[in-house]
Amino acid sequence: MRAIEIRGKGGPEVLALVDRPVPQIGPGEVLLRVAAAGVNRPDVQQRKGLYPPPPGVTDIPGLDVAGVVEAVAPGVEWPRPGDAVCALVAGGGYAEYCAVPAPQCMPIPRGFTFAQAATLPEVFFTAWNNVFWLGRIAERETLLVQGGTSGVGLAAIQMARHLRDATVIATASSAEKRAACLEYGAHHAVDYRAPDWPDQVRALTEGRGVDVILDGQGGDWTPLEMGLLAMDGRLVLIASHRAPKAEISTREVYIRRLTLTGSTLRSRPPAYKGRIARELVEQVWPLLEDGRIRTHICGMHRLEEAAAAQAVLDANAQIGKLVLTVSDQADTVPEVPR
Ligand SMILES: NC(=O)c1ccc[n+]([C@@H]2O[C@H](COP(=O)([O-])OP(=O)(O)OC[C@H]3O[C@@H](n4cnc5c(N)ncnc54)[C@H](OP(=O)(O)O)[C@@H]3O)[C@@H](O)[C@H]2O)c1
Repeated sequence: MRAIEIRGKGGPEVLALVDRPVPQIGPGEVLLRVAAAGVNRPDVQQRKGLYPPPPGVTDIPGLDVAGVVEAVAPGVEWPRPGDAVCALVAGGGYAEYCAVPAPQCMPIPRGFTFAQAATLPEVFFTAWNNVFWLGRIAERETLLVQGGTSGVGLAAIQMARHLRDATVIATASSAEKRAACLEYGAHHAVDYRAPDWPDQVRALTEGRGVDVILDGQGGDWTPLEMGLLAMDGRLVLIASHRAPKAEISTREVYIRRLTLTGSTLRSRPPAYKGRIARELVEQVWPLLEDGRIRTHICGMHRLEEAAAAQAVLDANAQIGKLVLTVSDQADTVPEVPR
């Protein structure tokens, strides 16, 4: 099969189109014929040598896929061969075939193309795991999303608004990105490059602070974010692009009953991811199907153009998601019996 390989740490030029054997499926897995794959920030981190695949996981990058099931391991009841699904994977998405744990498969939302469906798993799983499970966002709370136009950010903004009626404040680096945050449901969009951005956020909450913060920056932003949390607030860290270390006041944690938490999804077992998949299909898929929640694709590249797609992420020029089209089925809307 055709696949993308990472040939050493470096820039997008280390991504090479190669021939690899079709993966063998193990117990509980299905073989997917990939029509489209999502491109995510963690793929770039993997290419730079900062986010290696967990033990036993393929070195082929790619964390979300959509396609048609080719074969299933004995005992797998759903999905069945011929079903159109999208799925979260721990690696292997940038390829014509991908082995997927069955619990991580989800039906393609009705009316979605394979390419649109491939944009959903990684960002909706991540936002669900971190804002809803770890962040415990409750009805009408306030959420601050750092990097609001990231794929994860747009998913978090929309789900918090539509499922919790939350007040959402998002940050972004450009006027165009801040407009996109508002278009996708944020109530306020703040330029984090302004030195007084924390004061702006605090003023938007009338001094009360925010209940939940979703952040991939960390470093020197961490104490600022703790200062922005309301009593019982939760700071959820999903990356540390600014720096891995921070100096914080531990006193503040117990005086104001703050929670500092975070996660990576990739190393979690299929059963954990399967629980997220079921909640998403039940609670979020209907909103995708009726258009209340949308995916935003800012660029589509062919599999062999993976380097060009990742260069867009390197330049931080994307809004929402980038997709790799792997087969000529990518723009097709599949039949989804239910
Ligand atoms: N822990 C997990 O399980 C998990 C899973 C997936 C993703 N993630 C993390 O979640 C975040 C969103 O992922 P994604 O794939 O949706 O990201 P993405 O589309 O690449 O967006 C990340 C956004 O963060 C902002 N940003 C500011 N400084 C940055 C920097 N130094 N490096 C990268 N981004 C920077 C950028 O927006 P501005 O231009 O507005 O600054 C950028 O659009 C990333 O931090 C990613 O690493 C974590």
